[in-house]
Formats: sequence, C-alpha cells, structure tokens
Amino acid sequence: MASPDTDVSDLVDSLSLDEKCSLVRGAADPEGTATGYVPGVPRLDIPEFRLADGPLGIRIPGRSSTAFPASIAVASTFDPELARRQGVAMAREAKASGQHAVLGPGLNLIRVPNCGRNFEYYAEDPVVTADFAAAVVEGIQSEDVLATPKHYVANNQETKRLVVSAEVGERALRELYLPGFEAAVEAGAGSVMTAYNRVNGTHMSDHRRLVTEVLKDEWGFDGYVVSDWFGTESAVGAATAGLDLEMPGISLEALHEAFGLDPDAEMLEEGDDESIPAGETTTPRFATELKSAVESGAVPADRLDDMVARILGQMARIGLLDGDWGDGGALDTPDHRDLAETLAARGTVLLKNDDGSLPLSDDADVALVGPGVAEAMLGGGGSSEVTPAREVSALEGIRARTDGSVAFEPGVERVVTPSFFDDGPADGDDHADDFPGGKTPDIDAAADCAREADVAVVVVRDATTEGADRETLRLPGEQDELVAAVADAAARTVVVVQSGGPVELPWRDSVDAIVESWYPGQADGDALASVLYGDADPSGRLPVTFAPEDSYPTAAEERFPGVGEEAQYDEGVFVGYRHFDAADADDEPTYPFGHGLSYATFEYGDAEVRGDDAVAVEVTNASDRDGREVVQAYVRPPAVAGVERPMRELAGYAAVEVAAGETETVELSLSEHAFRRYDDSEGWTVDAGEYVVEVGRSSRDVRAETTVSR
Ligand code: BGC
Repeated sequence: MASPDTDVSDLVDSLSLDEKCSLVRGAADPEGTATGYVPGVPRLDIPEFRLADGPLGIRIPGRSSTAFPASIAVASTFDPELARRQGVAMAREAKASGQHAVLGPGLNLIRVPNCGRNFEYYAEDPVVTADFAAAVVEGIQSEDVLATPKHYVANNQETKRLVVSAEVGERALRELYLPGFEAAVEAGAGSVMTAYNRVNGTHMSDHRRLVTEVLKDEWGFDGYVVSDWFGTESAVGAATAGLDLEMPGISLEALHEAFGLDPDAEMLEEGDDESIPAGETTTPRFATELKSAVESGAVPADRLDDMVARILGQMARIGLLDGDWGDGGALDTPDHRDLAETLAARGTVLLKNDDGSLPLSDDADVALVGPGVAEAMLGGGGSSEVTPAREVSALEGIRARTDGSVAFEPGVERVVTPSFFDDGPADGDDHADDFPGGKTPDIDAAADCAREADVAVVVVRDATTEGADRETLRLPGEQDELVAAVADAAARTVVVVQSGGPVELPWRDSVDAIVESWYPGQADGDALASVLYGDADPSGRLPVTFAPEDSYPTAAEERFPGVGEEAQYDEGVFVGYRHFDAADADDEPTYPFGHGLSYATFEYGDAEVRGDDAVAVEVTNASDRDGREVVQAYVRPPAVAGVERPMRELAGYAAVEVAAGETETVELSLSEHAFRRYDDSEGWTVDAGEYVVEVGRSSRDVRAETTVSR
C-alpha cells in the first residue's frame, strides 16, 4: 500500500465509489491533446490529468514539438547527462502542451535484433539501460512532470505482443530485464507502464508477483502502475495484481476517432493469421467491471483506495492538486533544437574509416546518393512518432556545410516508414513521391554521379515500426545493390546507415567509411554534416552488437518469435555481447558492443584501482585534433564451479573530451551489477575471488587491465 500524505487520504475518503472508479481509468480527452486522459472530479477540485507519448519527444496531435533522436542513438553517446537534459526538455514541452506525464522512457532490453521497437530502447546491456533510465527520469521529473518507464517487463518483440509469453528464468529477469526499471524507480519515477505480453504465462497487467511483490513491495515503488493501451487483461485480475490505472479506458473505435489514428495501422493486430480480433482485447475492463467487482468484494475496497491514492499522490507531488503546476513550459526552443542536434551528432557511431576517408575536406565535390537524403529520418513508426516544427535533411545539411559541389541521385525507390497516424510524420503520403530536381530512382545514374565526384556519400535506411518486427536485418529494397554499385564506381565511398537497430552490411569491405546515425530526428542533416566534416568528433559507441542475423542467440525460432504463443528465453543471460563473448559462440561480431572510432587517436596508460569500486586510467589524445573518447571498463569474474557466467560485463564508462596532445585521468566507477550474479536459491550473490577489470575502447578492444577482489 502506498502511504499517501494526509491530504490525499482525506481526498480519497471524500470520494464516492463512482468517483473513485472514474479516477482509475482513462476517458476521451475533450481537448484532444492527450494520449491518455483522466477526467478530474470538479466537486472536489481534482483537476484533469493528461499523459502524452514519448519517448522520442512529445506527441500531441496537430502540434509540433522537438523530434529527438531515437533512444538507441541517445544511448550511443554513453553520456547519461545528455539523456537527463533531454528529459528536462521533453518535460518542458509536455508542460507547454498541458501534459502532466510523459509515456517514456522505453526500457526494454534489446534482446532481439529484429525487434521493431529497438529504436525506442537503449541497449542490450542492463548497466547502460539503467544509467540512461535513471538520467532521463530525473530530467523529466525535475520539471514536475511524471515519467512512465515502459513496458514492464520482457516486451522484447512486437510479434504477437498481446499474447506472447516470455518464458524467462529468474536469473535473466534479475540480471538483464529488470535493472532498467529498478533504476527508474530508484530515480523517483512516478509511474510505470505494464507490457502487453505475458511473462511465464501471466499477462503483465495481471502479474501480481512482478507488479506488487517486486515493483511495489521489494523496490518500494509508491507511484501508480498504468496499463499499456488496451493491455488490461481483466478487471479483477489486474486490480488485485497491482495495476492502478487502465488506459485508454475507451473502445478502440472511440480512440481512433479521438486521435486520428489510421484504422489500418498494425497497432494491435499483428497482421498474421493469428491476429487478435479487435473487440476481444480492446474492451475497457475497469470501466465495465470494476465497480461491481468492488461491490462484490472481488476487488477489496482498500485496493481501490490504494489505486486512487497512488494516482492522486503523484498529482499532488507535481503540484497539480494545489493548482500550482504548469510554469516553465516551452516548446521547440533554440536550446531544445541545439540539444537535439548535439544528441544526434554525439550518438553517431563511426564504424569504419579506412585511410582517414573521413572527415571530408571542406571543398570536396560530393555525390549524395540515397532514397532518403531529401527527408530527415525522424524515427520509426508507432506511438513514438513526433512532428517537429523544423527538420533538416542530409541534402540540406551537407549543402549548407560544404564549400564544394553536391550532386544528388536517389538511386532506388523511397523506403517508407509506416505511420500509425493519418497525418503522421512517418507517413509516406505526407511527402511528394517526387525526388528533388525531378530525379527518378536509377542505380546506374547513381553510379555515374558517384564516379564524377571526389567522394560518394550514400545514405541508406531501414523502416521499423511498433507493432511489427523486422523480417530481416538486411536493408529494405535494393539499397545493398545501390551501395555496391556506388562503391564500384566511386573514388571513395562513405555509407551513412540510418537504422533502428543492428543491420547487416554485406558491402562493408568494399566501402571506405561507414557511419551509423540511427534515427537522428529533426537535426538529421545538420548533425550528419557536423560529423562528416569533422566539426564534431564522432564519439558514439555501439550499445548493441552488430553481427550476422543467424548468429544472434534469438535466431532459433523457439526463442524468437517463439512457437505458438511462447518465446523461450533459454539463452538466459547470454544476450548481446554476453552471447558473442561466450567460449562456445561460433561467430564473431561484425562490430562489437562498445565499438566506435574517433577522428582523434587515443593512447591508454595503466589501469589503477581506486578504492573498492573505481578504476582510473590516463588517456592521451596523441593526434592533432581535439577528440571525445568513451572509456569503458568491463569486469571478468573468477571461475566458480558449476556456474556459467558471461565472460565480461560492462561495469562503468565515461565520455570525456581530450584536447589534442593532452592527457586526462579518467576515473570510472564500477557498478556492483557487474560483480554480482543472481542465484535462483540464494538471490544476489557476489563470489569471493579476483575479478579482472579490462579498460578499453570497446568490449573487444582492451587497452589496460587490473584486478579487484571481492
Ligand atoms: C504503446 C505504448 C504507448 C501507448 C499509447 C501503445 O501501443 O505500446 O508504448 O505509450 O500505445 O500510445
């Protein structure tokens, strides 16, 4: 039971049963701005309460707000302070539109490289996820707006997301899937959203053990738990399991109407033969069944009081109940635009750079090739779509930056990201089918154009969306053929990949440089130009492993997408680099976790232990350019008979600016998470022994080693 302050308890006592029931479920927003809306109780001066999507910016129908880069790009900065600032900016934008809660961050671990929502999540690693979770939550809540970490928990795929059961062991839950949420709760998140899927057979809305016992009792979460939209399985089951607020609380048809949702969007149906008939899962439960369930005693009256108290408690916390909320809102300010650009540039990962092909010289004549270069890559499809007031395409960004010429060829047909919304930013109908200059897609024309330039920059992209997983990690359409043809013709070829997660790069040996810029958001072209021309050092590092599709642990069908309605998580904790580093893994990553090049050259001194839980290293920038390095520390556990552990786990990292020729001492604190393991009978266990601490540039590029004991 949450312990609301006296005012909130008094308020709960003054409410009728009907009024209580009206506060624990959504309704249609008369203003049409909120994703989720709770009408207030005017009789008692309880105001309306509005929740807006998240997590890449604030989505308000018909309004624009800052389109930040994808969360995976934000994590690539390895700089949680930037995520905190993003949280502050998103909260100010929410406030400017009268929204009290942001439906984000997305904290599901990137388990499956094909997941259609990887762009909304941070990393395949729990320490990175937890750090970014805490930072963005702190940022959002520092502005008196509530954060809503989602989707609790094990929502790692979109295929059959309403029904699939993640069959996952306690150790993997504890070591991989829960830490992001726990960190968000520790950082003070006011709300947590349950996932659609089942975990070990039980829908998350009904999962008493994970919702009440772990989240509320064990972690002390005193905010409210909100369902995902139409994700409330049952009134009695959910209320008694610990769900506090049902969303959207109205029928799918009413929601479509209120929101201008595209009725054909694959939001709830998966589009395969086992799709969910709409009516079956989209009936509001609390609206129809909760009152009688309380009257009959099936849901205890004090459980309903607790639900209401948790919601009112958070409204009180942000000053909403005192009429003291709403100062400091601001939309699309110069600061927010700059931050969107900084995040996009710092989150850009330089995967390959042969013979110093990058940065480009200011006066190089550029052939800019690709079907999307005239449109900023804002994000993926789904509830995270944001409409920005301004966006800069690669073509605009490079034209504005260069002193040379820029010739453009699309090469292949446009790659269209499906949108959930009739007027969605990712919707193909939004843009003319014409390419600038009346160009038509033609690979030969693109190769000819590339041949005549000093350098060809090919921009390729995928198209991912909520509601569907990627069928393949190959780029859509004929983009691979396009890159190969350009690489054949051009003197130098730089490929810019805009993807929601790992992709296969079959042409990588025949191009000179590869830049991964994810979904960079509204600042796309400006951020890209600043990286390509060396105004910003590409300091992004991979928060996910790039590898051939069939070498990920989830390549087996029973693991992903699962057989029947079950996905077996029997790879346990061996996800991402934990899998690829395992002694019995056959395949090498294409680009390992933590990888990313810089234009500067860094040399590492010896690693020195500081106290019990930190390590220091001297990093020298041995080049004549200022640079930004991400120093990483991994821990290798001692062998313990009968216990299988990952070979190494990320324990700490720091993004540091090192001026040309300078040396910085970088101190990394080592997360206890990397030392402990979860034992099914003993719980968290730290084995006594010597742990090797590897310090370096990536999980596979170790520059110094030391040991610590536990
Ligand atoms: C998504 C959530 C989102 C909600 C409201 C659901 O389809 O899974 O992430 O916040 O819709 O738009």
